[in-house]
Amino acid sequence: MSDRLVARLRAVGCVFAEAEAAEIRRVLGHDDDATDAVVAARAAGTPLEQALGVARFAGVEVEVGDGVFVPRLRAEPLVDDAVAAAPDARVVVDLGCGSGAIAAALHRRLPQARVHAVDIDPVALRFAARNGRRHGFEAHLGDWWQALPRTLRGRVDLAVAYLPHVPTARLSGIAGDYRAHEPDRAVAGGADGLDPLRAVVAGMDDWMSPDGLLVTFVADEQHIAARTVAGARRVLFVLG
Ligand SMILES: C[S@@+](CC[C@H](N)C(=O)[O-])C[C@H]1O[C@@H](n2cnc3c(N)ncnc32)[C@H](O)[C@@H]1O
Repeated sequence: MSDRLVARLRAVGCVFAEAEAAEIRRVLGHDDDATDAVVAARAAGTPLEQALGVARFAGVEVEVGDGVFVPRLRAEPLVDDAVAAAPDARVVVDLGCGSGAIAAALHRRLPQARVHAVDIDPVALRFAARNGRRHGFEAHLGDWWQALPRTLRGRVDLAVAYLPHVPTARLSGIAGDYRAHEPDRAVAGGADGLDPLRAVVAGMDDWMSPDGLLVTFVADEQHIAARTVAGARRVLFVLG
């Protein structure tokens, strides 16, 4: 049986038209006007999640929209590895939280923890604050650790950070829909992609508890340099 929505999505250039049609129906049901608006947004290159206003990530659903980083499936192992490595963590932070997808998933998986999320981008923080009310974490605007309440100094058991890590020369390789609709500072990591990691590692001694662990993501080819940045600190790298 032919599927008109799949055909329309394919006609506007969606490679994964079947999957997108299923997600549109899951979120919008049979609302034809809303479906037309999403197809038009996809034709204009808006990522599906931003067009729909929701993204699924690691067992939670968060609100997303224009100008906020779309949670990526490849970041889900950060949550799994963090929970496995620090199952008793009580003070947990998501550094560079975007919409707060990681914070929301961590709150679900670590119900004993107080989860705090930080982002420097006011647009991201508006989404994080809304998602925080729904998913039980606190969102703070500002620069990495400095955004956190001072009372958390020396008390962070677990920090999870899907940091901007794309080297300057690789920015043009990001898929066009995302590149055009996400801010530079959500992805750009400087010449070698590791400037945000350097900034975060520099704050670890002040903010982490003695056994505190940072779990973060780097590309395979960044691993050796990232290990050097981390030095002797407790950092678990998820590679991708
Ligand atoms: C790769 S995105 C990850 C977003 C979110 N964690 C996720 O996985 O969907 C990185 C985020 O770091 C934020 N960011 C960049 N520089 C920052 C800084 N100096 N302090 C706090 N957040 C920052 C960006 O605004 C962006 O939302």
